[in-house]
Amino acid sequence: MTPLVTIRNLSKSFPGVKALDKVQFDLLPGEVHALMGENGAGKSTLMKILAGVYSKDSGEMQVNGHPVDITSPAHAQSLAIGIIHQELHLMGHLSAAQNIYLGREPRKAMGLLLDEAQLNRDAQALFDRMHLALAPTTRIDTLTVARQQMVEIAKALSFKSRVLIMDEPTAALNNAEIDDLFRIIRQLKSEGVGIVYISHKMDEIQRIADRITVMRDGTYVDTVPASTPMSQVIAMMVGRTLEAVDKRIPDTSAHEVLLDVRHLHRGRAIRDVSFSVRRGEILGFAGLMGAGRTEVARAVFGADPVESGEVWVRGQKIRLHSPEDAVRAGIGYLSEDRKHFGLATGMDVAANITLPSLKSWLQWGVFLNQPAIRQVAQQMVDKLRVKTPSLAQTTRLLSGGNQQKVVIAKWLVRDCEVLIFDEPTRGIDIGAKSEIYKLLHELAAQGRAIVVISSELPEVLQLSHRILVMCEGRITGEVRGDTATQETLMALATQRTPDPLSVH
Ligand SMILES: Nc1ncnc2c1ncn2[C@@H]1O[C@H](COP(=O)(O)OP(=O)(O)OP(=O)(O)O)[C@@H](O)[C@H]1O
Ligand SMILES: [Mg+2]
Repeated sequence: MTPLVTIRNLSKSFPGVKALDKVQFDLLPGEVHALMGENGAGKSTLMKILAGVYSKDSGEMQVNGHPVDITSPAHAQSLAIGIIHQELHLMGHLSAAQNIYLGREPRKAMGLLLDEAQLNRDAQALFDRMHLALAPTTRIDTLTVARQQMVEIAKALSFKSRVLIMDEPTAALNNAEIDDLFRIIRQLKSEGVGIVYISHKMDEIQRIADRITVMRDGTYVDTVPASTPMSQVIAMMVGRTLEAVDKRIPDTSAHEVLLDVRHLHRGRAIRDVSFSVRRGEILGFAGLMGAGRTEVARAVFGADPVESGEVWVRGQKIRLHSPEDAVRAGIGYLSEDRKHFGLATGMDVAANITLPSLKSWLQWGVFLNQPAIRQVAQQMVDKLRVKTPSLAQTTRLLSGGNQQKVVIAKWLVRDCEVLIFDEPTRGIDIGAKSEIYKLLHELAAQGRAIVVISSELPEVLQLSHRILVMCEGRITGEVRGDTATQETLMALATQRTPDPLSVH
């Protein structure tokens, strides 16, 4: 069988970074080929070269057995190579259908007019094929990230791609949406489409992949069948053994209550939510996407208003009008949407880590202690293994997972007693995940109160001392971190209460 794609000895450098060093890869018709490796290993770069976004420095590429030099995204599309990028690229003010057919809209009246009706019919046909209940005319900026992702997939399908690259497609999808995506992938496979699947989620790789190629630090490690034990794949990825996280739950019952949330309420999103966290405690929030966990976090952080309820920090009631109020009271919030709230992508790594806490580096009220700032930033970069050529690198140029590490570093440096982490390890590789778990345990042991929201049940279980489960805006249960199982959490996460409006 002629491979759809063959890559040999491919190399690519960016200023200060050898992103790819003599990498090889091939893709067969009808296979799902997973590409795995730690943050910054070069996965996205390799695929961007195949998709014509970057040009290679050296090496050979073949498509259907013919040597090619892919020079632009349009060139890649003409070779039936489609890519769904790690970052979404949609236009917020346009409709779903307009985004899909941007620049190649169907025309009528001899090409003079846009054929809106045809445009929407074509998009509807794609959505039908995906079993996606979405009106083609919906504006993109009214959709959740998950649904925007689905539109990106529809767009890639619209190009009739024979090669489909998916760069972390499920990072923001819930389980039902992942099932939908996998169904579409299986269908494409049966049509002979080859799929490159990049993900840090091991369970997904095991479910969907046929082969796995592992990369490390810009080099090719090996290609193995997906039935290879995951521990072996992880060892190939990280090149070291991972330390297990200590999972003993400390007794914090006599510790001071740092955060006390009382009867928060807002419409249907937050329904009478109360909880408290003590010094040294890690409180996990589990639940399905849309259960209201992020809404609660944003309300506690003063980012969204509430109708009623109070937030107390160290026994004092705080004003809840803005994030500034919350930070002043010692509450930090790492948002799930790092692109919009977490990162100044045009600034360098050191600035992103230290700017929000610059006040602590004022000397005699005036001078900034530059060496101390750099030292703190460097410590964080080392500790979290942020892959960057220097502290002066613009964060936009870091790989997706490394950008996330910078946001985490920023909140770790800020001196907050209460830290709320919303999906802290989204897009983060398995090695860095365990580093972050260790850090959170350290922070708790130092006497902070930590709240962790995560959609990954194994993560909530591994991290939390105590777990609250939410469903439809309310807390449906509380369990200890050492006795809970995925099953108990799932049962609570789907414990719907009858809707009072629909009861007759
Ligand atoms: N445009 C760019 N300019 C400079 N450096 C870059 C650029 N794009 C990527 N890099 C660097 O190349 C290396 C590989 O990055 P790449 O995005 O391919 O990693 P990745 O394997 O996709 O990681 P992740 O899992 O975090 O998405 C990283 O060190 C990154 O910082
Ligand atoms: Mg990437």
